[in-house]
This record gives sequence, structure tokens and C-alpha cells, in this order.
Amino acid sequence: MLAIIVNGGAGSSKALTPEEQEIARKGVKKAAEAGYLVLGKGGKAIDAVVEAVRVMEDEPIFNAGTGSALTINGEVEMDASLMTMDGHFGAVGAIKDVKNPILVARKVMEETDHLLLVGEGAIKFARHMGFVKHNPITKRQQEKLAKLKEKGESHYFPKLKKYLKYGTVGAVAFDKNQTVAVANSSGGIRGKLPGRVGDSAILGAGTFASLFGAVTATGHGEWIMKLLLSKITVDLMKTYNAQTAIELALKEAKKYGCLCGIIGIDVKGNIGFGKTTEYMAWAYLRDGALISF
Ligand code: GLY
Repeated sequence: MLAIIVNGGAGSSKALTPEEQEIARKGVKKAAEAGYLVLGKGGKAIDAVVEAVRVMEDEPIFNAGTGSALTINGEVEMDASLMTMDGHFGAVGAIKDVKNPILVARKVMEETDHLLLVGEGAIKFARHMGFVKHNPITKRQQEKLAKLKEKGESHYFPKLKKYLKYGTVGAVAFDKNQTVAVANSSGGIRGKLPGRVGDSAILGAGTFASLFGAVTATGHGEWIMKLLLSKITVDLMKTYNAQTAIELALKEAKKYGCLCGIIGIDVKGNIGFGKTTEYMAWAYLRDGALISF
């Protein structure tokens, strides 16, 4: 059995027009198919999730890579991470001017003794690894930031009123050797302060994998970090299948008003997904059948 599930971010359906939702639907399907193709060729789960996330980073409808949400200063600072069930982890935080943060995070995992590189250090490392300069800022996101500033308040960052969306892409896969892996990438939340790092770069928060399964979360990063949402979900997979584990974790998240979505696969290959938000873009492929939101 082979399986992959991807998400293109959770939030309010009002953040996207019906046309944009259709682009997001096509985008998550394309990402799931790209990852599944890797699995079908005998590739590892880690290769599949990286490919699925890379595809979504290159689709500007998603808040990751090109098309990322902007900081209050109008810049793009991206977070990304990946993890295998045998404990290999790599991440970048607040990285600018690269096309695919997930590929840089993979280099951190494979080529360094570290888990997380941030800011200028992450950019220097990316250049050293051969990643060329890329501008991920889109006109659509510039307009969205302008609207937020006009409104003067952010639901997620109430304390930012005086300075003045969320979304993340993620993928979890199960390969022919019954190993699972996860990858996650995000532009963070629109209007964030420069230097803010969200859950997508943090082990156990936006990304976690162990012998029981692998999970990624999307949504309000500060709460996802406080709850260590991916870690508690994977821990629940010791006892429950992926869907039940995710539902229990979301129950916990709801107690705190954490606006989020979770996708995951347990070590038996069961897929799970859910959200506390109104909307989440997702798609999965299992044994050749493609299902999407
Ligand atoms: N989950 C995206 C963020 O809060 O950065």
C-alpha cells in the first residue's frame, strides 16, 4: 500500500474567492499526485513529501514559497521543516529570497549537524548549497497586506494593532517499506513582525514523526507551538488510528480556541485529517484513488 495526504492551509473560506478555492483544489491534487508518483516509482516517503511540498511552494495560491504572506514590512520570511520516522529533522526559519524553503530544510537535515537555521544564517547556508536568489513576493499578497493595514487589526495578532491570514502547506506519506515522513512549509501569518518564526519550523509543533506515524499542522502557529500539536497527535497514534488521534488532538486544540488543521498517516498506513477552522484545502491518494476537499 502507498499513501500520501497534503494540505494547502486552513482558515476562513472567505479568505479565498470561489475561483481561488478551485485553484487551491487543483493545487492540492497536483501536489498529492506529484508525491504519489515518487512513491509509485519506489521512492521513499521523505522524497514524496518534499516533492509534494515543493509543488505547493511553486503555486502562488498557497501561503508558502512564491505567494507567501507578507510581514508587516512587506517582505516574505518563510519557515519550513521535514522529519522522518527515525528521527531525522531539518528546518529553516524566517528565510528570505529563496524559491523552495523545503529544499533548504532538507539540506539542513542532510548536510549539517543542526536542526534549524534561521534568518541571515539560513540564507547564507542556502547560497552555499547553490540555491539562487528568488523573489517570492506576489502582487496578490501585497494587496492583501495593504487591506490588512487599512483595516488596522489582525485577528491572530491583537497586540499588533499599534503596528499596523494564515496558511501553510504540508504533506505526509507512507511508502512501500511502510515508513512515514512529513514536510511542511509556510510564509507564516500576514502582518507578522520581521523575525517571527512560526510552528512550521518547530519540531513537534508544525511537524512531527515517530515510530507511530507522522503529522503536520496548519493554522495559528503560536497556539500550535504552545500545544506541540503535531507531537501530541503522533503520540496519540500509539493507541489510536490516525483519524481518531487527529480528532482527539483537535478536541484539545478547540479547548484553547486554536484555529488549526491537522493531516497525518499512522504506521499502519491509515490516513487522518481534520480542522477546527471552517476551511482547509486537502487531498489524499491511497492505492491509486484521489480524494480532495
Ligand atoms: N502555521 C503557520 C504559522 O503560523 O506560521
